[in-house]
Amino acid sequence: MRKKIIAGNWKMNMLPNETISFIEELAPLVKDTENEVILCVPYTDLFYALLTVQGTNIKIGAQNMHFEEKGAYTGEISGQMLKSINVEYVIIGHSERRQYYNETDESVNKKVKAAFNVGLKPIVCVGETLEEREANKTVEIITTQTQLALEGLSKEEVENTIIAYEPIWAIGTGKTATSEDANNSIKEIRNKIAEIYGQNTASRVIIQYGGSVKSSNAKELFTTSDIDGGLVGGASLKAEEFSKIINFDK
Ligand code: PGA
Repeated sequence: MRKKIIAGNWKMNMLPNETISFIEELAPLVKDTENEVILCVPYTDLFYALLTVQGTNIKIGAQNMHFEEKGAYTGEISGQMLKSINVEYVIIGHSERRQYYNETDESVNKKVKAAFNVGLKPIVCVGETLEEREANKTVEIITTQTQLALEGLSKEEVENTIIAYEPIWAIGTGKTATSEDANNSIKEIRNKIAEIYGQNTASRVIIQYGGSVKSSNAKELFTTSDIDGGLVGGASLKAEEFSKIINFDK
């Protein structure tokens, strides 16, 4: 049985003092969950977040990284830097990064490999635009993105990759994919992984849904056959609301 993993993606929100109070409020609300809880916070909050989650079941992730270990890349942060302060997870290839910062399937693949090289667990985002959806290209887009992101990884690495299926039209829009739709897309991603890496590997990969997840729809989404939790943006900024999403099965 795959476990459920609920990850918050704070995007460019929250200052260190807000991070500390958020975690202090969230920790007691989620201490009894069997689901895995991750908060992906801005770089400037990482250190404070890591200190504050000590002794709790909350794990910390970053939202991006560079694929090189070090060098002349002004303004960038490497996987090694994240690992050195004990960050565990890193979001890679979020659609906002693909859209605004020219992230490509190729750079996503390089980052995923670089993450594994330093022992970080990647949360890889894939998803179709509204245009692609209307042109009936959803399956082709998301399976190709998945295949290219994972290219060259070992089966073990694939099993340790979290994939977040996030239809772009559902991100921050209040429009959620129906649970049936999201589950079907995720099944297609899993089938693609099975085709390349075998059924055993595919059945172990955690595939989340993301896009306007909130406490009112979390249960319906996360109790389908193939959705293994969620990557949550807006609704992860309020501790109480986020705790209800994490405790969807309580
Ligand atoms: P949202 O964002 O929950 O605010 O739609 C999800 C995401 O971008 O990861």
